[in-house]
Amino acid sequence: MAKGKNATVFFCQSCGYESAKWMGQCPGCRQWNTFVEETITPAVKAAGTGKRIGAEKRERPSLLREISLEEEDRLTTRMQELDRVLGGGLVRGSLILVGGDPGIGKSTLLLQVCRNLAMDGREVLYVSGEESLKQIKIRANRIGEFNDHLRLLCETNLGMIEENVRCARPDVVVIDSIQTMFHEGISSAPGSVSQVRETTNVLLQLAKGLNITVFIVGHVTKEGTVAGPRVLEHMVDTVLYFEGDRHVSYRILRGVKNRFGSTNEIGVFEMEAAGLKEVQNPSEFMLSGRPEGASGSVVTCSLEGTRPMLIEIQALVSHSSFGIPRRQTIGTDFNRVNLLMAVLEKRLGLSLGNCDAYVNIAGGIRILEPAIDLGIAVAVASSFKNRAVDDKTIVIGEVGLSGEVRGVSMIQLRVQEARKLGFTTCIIPQVCMSGVKEITGIRMKGVKTVGEAIALL
Ligand code: TYD
Ligand code: MG
Repeated sequence: MAKGKNATVFFCQSCGYESAKWMGQCPGCRQWNTFVEETITPAVKAAGTGKRIGAEKRERPSLLREISLEEEDRLTTRMQELDRVLGGGLVRGSLILVGGDPGIGKSTLLLQVCRNLAMDGREVLYVSGEESLKQIKIRANRIGEFNDHLRLLCETNLGMIEENVRCARPDVVVIDSIQTMFHEGISSAPGSVSQVRETTNVLLQLAKGLNITVFIVGHVTKEGTVAGPRVLEHMVDTVLYFEGDRHVSYRILRGVKNRFGSTNEIGVFEMEAAGLKEVQNPSEFMLSGRPEGASGSVVTCSLEGTRPMLIEIQALVSHSSFGIPRRQTIGTDFNRVNLLMAVLEKRLGLSLGNCDAYVNIAGGIRILEPAIDLGIAVAVASSFKNRAVDDKTIVIGEVGLSGEVRGVSMIQLRVQEARKLGFTTCIIPQVCMSGVKEITGIRMKGVKTVGEAIALL
């Protein structure tokens, strides 16, 4: 792309796709109406091709055996849930993006992290571009006592922030939020793709150059008026998304990218009057309020990273009063549910063709793991036949197109979790029977097909 003086380009505000002309649909992320014109100033060019991060440190190529790993000391945030998602604590010099819908609790989480780090004697700087010092103080009062290692700064000018950080040399910096920050060298408005990219670039150099851990808050917006966190995903070390329904009190922190640990780990929190509280036992939490003896309710076990979590699947199948049956899913894959219903219809002869069906994962969590297939199939069949499944039974397995039940990973962990929460029977794939050791207090039954599982129940 030719960049003359005051060249303008169009950026997709959702994924950052760059184009010389305007387009209705973004070829990158398939979103509509997300292109916005932005002026490219030479500063952007300089940032892209100019000094490399930490260039002064890496003059000569190194041998693998010369690199010591001891430097990678991790700071604990004193929140087990967060530490786990981060892969065992905060890595010094890393850049962490925390994304999520507005109002989900990002500022609260980070203020709590700041508090814990400050308690451990780390110097922390919290930069807010959204709230006044008074507003932060009000939030802090709800959370608890703070000590003097935490400093607050209300500033949106990145140059000033950079100066502050270079003088004070804190251990951890929080930028809340990246969409409010601006770099003087860029003419476009704060929140635009080029601003967000450039400010992140500066923060990246600060983090790596001074060995400071930097948290960046990024709002996810659907309207596309502000550049979303996805634009930054490739630049940062770790991407965490804070999910949940604003109307439900618990929140899930999910690792999407992590250069220092596994992704797929989740942390579960609950929003309370005094800030976020960790939920150590999410299974118990997810199953609270489960109806007893109701048809269409089945408990299964899903694995998030290394963590088993029991969830309740609810299905409601009713006769359709219109020509075209309605199907709806909340918390799981719509197409997968349709497929499972087709399997039930074809292989078991359940006439679901003229039935409305609604499938819901209770508690507002979203699960796409195939290991819950058998649970969904059993829940649909249970609702269809209007017969309840035993309360103390859990159902695990993936279902294939010919109605066979296929194996799932880490079956032992899942069964143990079920045992912990007082379940007495476990329906698992036949192929997994050999891989699971006897656990006292729980009976295991292997099944080969969906039909067998349904007959057992
Ligand atoms: P906030 O952290 O401001 O969200 P974000 O930074 O992601 O936009 O928190 C938003 C909500 O959390 C707000 O609606 C109020 C609620 N909240 C509590 O329920 N308890 C608390 O102690 C705090 C601080 C906030
Ligand atoms: Mg906030």
